[in-house]
Amino acid sequence: MKINLANIRQEYTKSGLKERDLPADPLTLFESWLNEAVEAKVEEPTAVLVGTVSPEGTPSTRTVLLKALREGKFVFYTNYHSRKGSHLAQNPHISLSFVWHELERQVHIEGIASKVSSEESNNYFKTRPYKSRIGARISPQSQPISSRVEIMRLFVAEAARWIGREVERPENWGGYEVTPTRIEFWQGRPSRLHDRFLYVLQEDKSSWQHERLAP
Ligand SMILES: Cc1cc2nc3c(=O)[nH]c(=O)nc-3n(C[C@H](O)[C@H](O)[C@H](O)COP(=O)(O)O)c2cc1C
Repeated sequence: MKINLANIRQEYTKSGLKERDLPADPLTLFESWLNEAVEAKVEEPTAVLVGTVSPEGTPSTRTVLLKALREGKFVFYTNYHSRKGSHLAQNPHISLSFVWHELERQVHIEGIASKVSSEESNNYFKTRPYKSRIGARISPQSQPISSRVEIMRLFVAEAARWIGREVERPENWGGYEVTPTRIEFWQGRPSRLHDRFLYVLQEDKSSWQHERLAP
């Protein structure tokens, strides 16, 4: 590297998180942080890093876009036959990490993923742009392909099949909803003395306890 990476550092001074301001329900705080990220026009405010674990115990991550937050659950859409989909079919434990650098904030979520209903996936699929719907039908996500030309040929042929008709959602594409069990909020502070609060879902599955963690 020509650049000296060790010299890249920044003080975090934008905000703080006080224990007395914390709501009982972490979803309330998450919603207000996401709203603030949207209002601050951060790049891709709904982008979230999804962590899954293979049957062999190997972790992997990739970015997706959060498409709904409803009934305390986080919803994203993908190909059920993708690498992440095959991991989740065998092990539903999942992590979600939001990072909003412009606000010096991150939120780490751990929970359990399950597929949303076909009806919910259909409803969301219908809202997607036409080309994205065609793409979802032809892309064997996460599989090796010979060339870009191959995928473009598949795309053009599929687009021709659906002219004048409502593009149907393929069975292997749909949503996952994540039911959170742990949610950690991180707010950058000066001198690396950041504020961290961890909420853990209690055995009654409806109330949360929180505690401050060392930075
Ligand atoms: C900003 C951004 C948003 C993305 N959104 C999605 C998404 O919503 N769904 C999805 O399946 N892939 C999305 N991707 C692509 C994934 O990161 C990933 O490449 C793909 O899902 C295959 O992952 P896998 O092979 O680990 O299953 C996005 C990538 C980026 C950079």
